[in-house]
Amino acid sequence: MKGFSLLIVLLIIPLSFSLTFAGVLDGKKLFNDTTLGTNGKSCNSCHPDGSGINGKKSSYTIMGRKFGSLEDAINFCIKMALKGKELKKDSKKMKDLSTYVKTLTGKKRKRKIIKGC
Ligand code: HEC
Repeated sequence: MKGFSLLIVLLIIPLSFSLTFAGVLDGKKLFNDTTLGTNGKSCNSCHPDGSGINGKKSSYTIMGRKFGSLEDAINFCIKMALKGKELKKDSKKMKDLSTYVKTLTGKKRKRKIIKGC
């Protein structure tokens, strides 16, 4: 029995890792996807390589507005910066995008490109 549970654990750990990893990759695609919005921009247009985003905070302030969750901050940028439709919090797209954004660590922007937000 002991060997069996060990086997299950050994199977589940890499499986959950690879699922998270797949989410990060799909999220990165969305981060570069100009079809999330309607103005031809992607997240990456203003946050090149994720710069300016620290995905590990518990609250976010964007343009003087405070958001209690990463999903709300992401939706604000989708609506205001990409002129797109907000994503449902439990949708695969939002889960993938936030999984990727959580891997970002708040690198400084190389150049300021804060137009239109
Ligand atoms: C038109 C420019 C623009 C676009 C496009 C844009 N953002 Fe932003 N974003 C900003 C600005 C400006 C801020 C405010 C903070 C700053 O100055 O870095 C911000 C802040 C954020 C923050 C909070 C960062 C922090 O650490 O406090 C998150 C998260 C974020 N954006 C995610 C996204 C995502 C995801 C997308 C794509 C769906 C996106 N943004 C698209 C301009 C943009």
